[in-house]
Amino acid sequence: MDQYLVFGNPIAQSKSPLIHSMFAQQTGQELQYGRMLAVKEDFIEHLEAFFSNPLAQGCNVTAPFKEMAAKWVNELSSSAKLAGAINTIKRQQDGRFLGETTDGPGLVQDLLRLGIILNNKRILLLGAGGAARGVLKPLLAEHPSLLMVANRTPAKAQLLASLLSSDTLQGCGFDTLSSPLPPFDLIINSTSASLSGELPAIADSIIAASSHVYDMSYADKPTVFMQHASQLGVANVYDGLGMLVGQAAESFTLWRGVRPLVEPVIQILRAKL
Ligand code: ATR
Repeated sequence: MDQYLVFGNPIAQSKSPLIHSMFAQQTGQELQYGRMLAVKEDFIEHLEAFFSNPLAQGCNVTAPFKEMAAKWVNELSSSAKLAGAINTIKRQQDGRFLGETTDGPGLVQDLLRLGIILNNKRILLLGAGGAARGVLKPLLAEHPSLLMVANRTPAKAQLLASLLSSDTLQGCGFDTLSSPLPPFDLIINSTSASLSGELPAIADSIIAASSHVYDMSYADKPTVFMQHASQLGVANVYDGLGMLVGQAAESFTLWRGVRPLVEPVIQILRAKL
């Protein structure tokens, strides 16, 4: 049977084996998907040992190995080049290894699944770390009228915006968001603030009740950012569970050439949170 797995540290909590086994069952694909804990010192050794098995067709890579994996593969997609990090490796027919980042397509797929229109809309992306970097291109490909990247450390947002020559993309600090600006149609929180129960320090006035608010994090209850948006009267508030399943669906499609349905898998995972 074809073999896949996810590398990470920590990895015990990863939902990827469950998600991919549900995708395989749903699409009738025969494969095994496991998980492997590594440390930075032995990650490449484990990766090469895994791919020395001819049945090993691909793997996912999560923190803290995404950058190391991007340096290891033979080829990177254009999104992966920009991100400098990958979450998916595929063994190609010629034996070369392709690195891809499926987080961005996973996010866009989830936003569209939720019925959020991106075309010609004003999007605010909070954070300028690895998570933000990986989603810029796929978001821009949906032709928003503005993609504003705002970060606690303004220089990082400005640097990110300068990586792509797009008039639609701008970078700024959180302070810029306090001046009167037209409301954003969609606010995406890509900062790691939610993981430590913190709120990105943006002015409340920037969060309009008519905005859609999306947090890339998820938990068994709404994140602090989602709770804050709800308190400000925002009705359309979402977490990143659908993005998690969406990025997995993109990896699965890349490997197997079959697109699984995400909705039933999201429902099962939600019930288990
Ligand atoms: P990731 O891969 O999850 O994006 P990262 O590359 O370490 O992780 O980036 C973390 C992001 O979350 C950064 O944009 C960081 O802001 P700084 O560049 O100013 O450090 C942001 N972040 C983390 N904690 C935050 C907080 N409490 N408030 C606002 N932004 C925060």
